[in-house]
Amino acid sequence: MQLSTIAGVITAACLLLSSQSLLASDTKPGVTIYATGGTIAGKAESDTATTGYKAGAIGVQDLVSAVPAIANVATVQSEQIANTASGNINQAILLKLSKAINQQLKNPDTHGAVVTHGTDTLEETAFFLDLTVKSDKPVVVVGAMRPATAISADGPMNLLEAVTLAASPRADKRGVMVLLNDRIGSAFYTTKTNATALDTFKANEQGYLGAFYAGKPYFFYQPALPENKPSFDVSDKTTLPKVDILYSYQDQDSDFLSTAIEHGAKGIVIAGSGNGATSSGVKEEIRKAMAKGIPVVLSTRTGNGYVTAKTKEDGIGSGVYNPQKARILLSLALADGDNMEKIRSYFEE
Ligand code: SIN
Repeated sequence: MQLSTIAGVITAACLLLSSQSLLASDTKPGVTIYATGGTIAGKAESDTATTGYKAGAIGVQDLVSAVPAIANVATVQSEQIANTASGNINQAILLKLSKAINQQLKNPDTHGAVVTHGTDTLEETAFFLDLTVKSDKPVVVVGAMRPATAISADGPMNLLEAVTLAASPRADKRGVMVLLNDRIGSAFYTTKTNATALDTFKANEQGYLGAFYAGKPYFFYQPALPENKPSFDVSDKTTLPKVDILYSYQDQDSDFLSTAIEHGAKGIVIAGSGNGATSSGVKEEIRKAMAKGIPVVLSTRTGNGYVTAKTKEDGIGSGVYNPQKARILLSLALADGDNMEKIRSYFEE
């Protein structure tokens, strides 16, 4: 054997060993992606075409390799079950998919499954799987409204979120889920509600816990509570600390926050613009208040959405709480004598 060949063999052996040890130390959950086609795998003539393209034109390997961040959340394997527009999904494909997923989820190394699918009949396949997959592990059906070739294609982020969801222990025991446009829906209830919009998958009624049907309460889900729901004992309280809500707007004066504190506010909630934003002047005042130990919670005036965590100096992101609910929670937390970090945890965890 020539020296160069021996060196090559040694290098290959070292590479193999190091990749094996990488695998051995890689604790990322296993997720299997089953691809069936649809717009998420669609190809158009131009990057501005969002209709009139060919659905189911790109293979699963290319879909996955277009999103390298998937490797950060899961150890993925994939299978091409079909590659077609979802109007062509038939019994044979449904049965093949269901059997493959049931089998795969028995594997202890597999934490969840993802199905990529055309959105037109996605809810039918998702519902079929919900009724036929017997496992507590997550199964996520994902699609896209814009073809993979479009500017701002939604497929790559949807796929990353679907795999992240399938890899998450928090997604266990929730039945089959539908994931598009950052929203997690129950396959049992979710339906396509708009021909072309990105936020098309909804379960309008089932945003409620339940409803009255023919005079009887009907609950859509098993008993469930909001995550991280706080609880307070007010049995010995006769008053609660004053918390003011301040509404944010363009070019807002910085004194509006200090005035509230001078008038006795022990905490402040800001109905910020967008993701809890304020003018630069108010931002400075927030920093001063936080430094003095007066909590400032940044909520949103938009009416919807999750306000994300802020840096320690810049206030507290309100999370799921709108300004009026954030005010109640902050007042109760202050009455409880909670410190800044504990208060932050109510909102940001
Ligand atoms: C399809 O359902 O296959 C085409 C439409 C889509 O995926 O959005």
